[in-house]
Amino acid sequence: MNILILGSGGREHALAWKLAQSKKVSSVFIGPGNAGTAAIGINIPLNPENFEEVKKAVLENKIKMVIVGPEAPLVTGIHDFFINDKILKNIPVIGPDKSAARLEGSKDFAKAFLTRHKIPTALYKSFDKSTVKEASVFLKTLNPPYVIKADGLAAGKGVLIVNDLLDAENEVNAMLAGKFGSAGQKVVIEQFLKGIELSVFIITDGSSYKLLPEAKDYKKIGAGDTGLNTGGMGAVSPVPFADTGFMKKVSERIIDPTIKGLSEEGILYKGFIFFGLINVNGDPYVIEYNARLGDPESEAIIPRIKSDLFELIEGVAEGNLAEKNLEIDDRFVTTIMLASGGYPGHYEKGKEIFGLWLPRDCVVFHAGTKMSDNKIVTSGGRVLAVSAWGKTMNEALVSSYRNASLLSFEDMYYRMDIGFDL
Ligand code: AMP
Ligand code: GLY
Repeated sequence: MNILILGSGGREHALAWKLAQSKKVSSVFIGPGNAGTAAIGINIPLNPENFEEVKKAVLENKIKMVIVGPEAPLVTGIHDFFINDKILKNIPVIGPDKSAARLEGSKDFAKAFLTRHKIPTALYKSFDKSTVKEASVFLKTLNPPYVIKADGLAAGKGVLIVNDLLDAENEVNAMLAGKFGSAGQKVVIEQFLKGIELSVFIITDGSSYKLLPEAKDYKKIGAGDTGLNTGGMGAVSPVPFADTGFMKKVSERIIDPTIKGLSEEGILYKGFIFFGLINVNGDPYVIEYNARLGDPESEAIIPRIKSDLFELIEGVAEGNLAEKNLEIDDRFVTTIMLASGGYPGHYEKGKEIFGLWLPRDCVVFHAGTKMSDNKIVTSGGRVLAVSAWGKTMNEALVSSYRNASLLSFEDMYYRMDIGFDL
């Protein structure tokens, strides 16, 4: 079967790498992909948010299944577009429809859903332009720091954590006045939770689910989790504190009620759910839902899946996921992200990448690369993700770092302390 993966980052390269290993997959197409995906599949120049372009690619290449990497096409309804199209309606889209993708697309919806189903999450209230005075009153009932979130998708920039009450009020006003465009028409204000974060993933066909490996993501640009937020500078899987006892709480208090809640509300969810969790003194709380896999978490968790991931995906499409087998490698995988100097601020693109043929006993996923004049060059802030296995976390880190040191491009930067807090 020919399949199409939408997206262009390290997550999509990791999906393409894994799915290309399946006997059931004949050709992997990636739209638009990057220089890494071009080496294992066929890149199609398309914009995943332009559904007509996706349709054209599907028909031209006899695609029989579409797997959506990033959130934007899900939130704007690519799944619904396929279902409502006479020609495409029998081609499964792996990723939730618009209604189910509200778990990520609307923080107000997600918080209300969590509250309705008594799933542990920070205390919150939502406000719009008409209730801005009440927002100030609510802020005063909370202790600093204040957590302020734009309701809609804001390219990872819509969450602010502010220490001063006056600054918090100003930020709420700025969001409601359009700082993040329509994403800030509603604002969620919530209690700050103190703890250590982790990312938990499932794949579901709407009735049953499989728990995928969990991971810890390193979001800050600087060592010791300092400086600006990024898309993620590294990842580790498994997460040592996510032991059997903790994961039992995650299943019972968070995953099971989420699946049950979706079904009770008549929302058919088919795809991946990413639970952004925080461990507060041994108890898990939901920080956010995402309607997709994480990046760079995918680059650490996908190499730990031993079974055929395509079989699971087929189970989602056919609604028989419960009958499928999932086997996880108990070794650690650590991922080091190599970034362009200056990222997440201004950075230059088009730098030639050297040493890609050198790494051993690891896999280098491309995050922001492209071909230019027969050379592989940088084309994004996050450029390469170096994922390596090890019997211990340390062994995996030594291998990731040794391999990272073989790669180079002008102004390359990476964090030297991934895993430091574990
Ligand atoms: P989100 O986009 O919802 O994942 O939020 C971005 C980041 O803000 C999270 O990864 C957390 O580090 C932080 N954050 C969000 N909500 C809270 C909260 N209620 N308490 C503490 N930190 C939070
Ligand atoms: N690494 C966090 C995310 O994918 O949203």
